[in-house]
Amino acid sequence: MKKVFVGMAVVGLFAASSAMAIDLPKDAQSKCGACHKMSGKAMGPSWEMMAEKYKGKADAEKTLVENITKGGKFGWSMGNMPAKGSGASAEQIALFAKFIAVDMNAAAK
Ligand code: HEC
Repeated sequence: MKKVFVGMAVVGLFAASSAMAIDLPKDAQSKCGACHKMSGKAMGPSWEMMAEKYKGKADAEKTLVENITKGGKFGWSMGNMPAKGSGASAEQIALFAKFIAVDMNAAAK
């Protein structure tokens, strides 16, 4: 009986921590943070708004990599996103795209 109780507590802890706010990847703040916040509009849409837009979309990661690399307008009517943000590398862009398409939506479940 005691074992079962401990097991349930561990599951409960795990569920609570996965529902908590997720950390931005390293460098996302310095390369993108001037214009993108976790929630609420800034210069551009929040990470949450982007994750919502791409939730469940096929090719989300690929599209995001392309959009972040090219910059421009993506229908938010908020202005112009500079290509690669503030000088993000291809590796960083791939990581940020995965963060938006996969990690954010996994955390929101
Ligand atoms: C100087 C401000 C600025 C910086 C820096 C910036 N962005 Fe943006 N970003 C914007 C704006 C403005 C938009 C909205 C464009 C529009 O109105 O459609 C945007 C839109 C986006 C979108 C939405 C794309 C879509 O398909 O809807 C993504 C993703 C994004 N930015 C990622 C990033 C990442 C990652 C970085 C850092 C590498 C970054 N941005 C840095 C201003 C910025």
